[in-house]
Amino acid sequence: MTDRYAVIGNPVAHSKSPQIHALFAEQTGQDMRYEAMLVPSDGFGQTVRDFIAQGGRGMNVTVPFKFDAFNIATELTERARAAQAVNTLKFDNGAILGDNTDGAGLVRDIRENLGFHLNDHRVLLMGAGGAAYGVVLPLLAAGANLTVANRTLAKAQQLAVAFAGQGNITASGYEDLRGQQFDAVINATSSSLSDEMPPLPDDIFSADALAYDMMYGRETPFMVFAREHGAAIVADGLGMLVEQAAESFFLWRGVRPETAPVIAALRNR
Ligand code: ATR
Repeated sequence: MTDRYAVIGNPVAHSKSPQIHALFAEQTGQDMRYEAMLVPSDGFGQTVRDFIAQGGRGMNVTVPFKFDAFNIATELTERARAAQAVNTLKFDNGAILGDNTDGAGLVRDIRENLGFHLNDHRVLLMGAGGAAYGVVLPLLAAGANLTVANRTLAKAQQLAVAFAGQGNITASGYEDLRGQQFDAVINATSSSLSDEMPPLPDDIFSADALAYDMMYGRETPFMVFAREHGAAIVADGLGMLVEQAAESFFLWRGVRPETAPVIAALRNR
């Protein structure tokens, strides 16, 4: 019988996950079906239980259910626990494993696809919301010297305290970035949604710096700023999207798909 998977969210119509997993399944010859499920905001738990009862094997979880998914899991990976959010569920003999593949996807995109090394590099992570929490542990594990900047400084400080034992991490306001340079600047704020960007000093990028926006789909104000202010590599989050999907696919199927052709296919669409 064909194994069933789904992405669950609200909204979910825009999700590229069905396309991505269909391409992965075709490429690796896996017999599986993957659909999008639009669920009302109070319908998460019931939908997951129904899907399991119908033989569902796993789910990707998107806005606004990543914390509900964290709570419904009967087991959590270390990176999901650190992120306090779950984007991948695996159903196995009554157990619900919750994982978070966002950070691993970001780190893989930066290292493998963009060829940029994080180890001992000064990395500025902008934002201290859910998107930032999801990527901190894998960035620290990759050896980054992390500064987390946020408009509301207290939230950056709280985040830095939460991860203090895991690596080199400090909190900052945007004002205090003056005079500092970073080898990589990662935008994990939601500012691009409103066509804004955080207030960065003009000379924030070191020579050969990477500017990475976790949003995808269009050139964001941060990406424009980065091109104008000397970043050597400017990337959007499409590679991260495909890499986090590949990491979920690997958790479910034990097979690692090739991501480069899938990233290329999505860019061409
Ligand atoms: P998400 O789940 O996408 O991370 P969130 O938890 O609401 O969403 O967090 C949004 C983040 O983007 C926060 O860090 C927010 O900063 P504040 O905590 O100070 O509100 C940040 N953010 C949103 N718009 C921004 C802007 N125009 N400039 C700078 N930071 C912004």
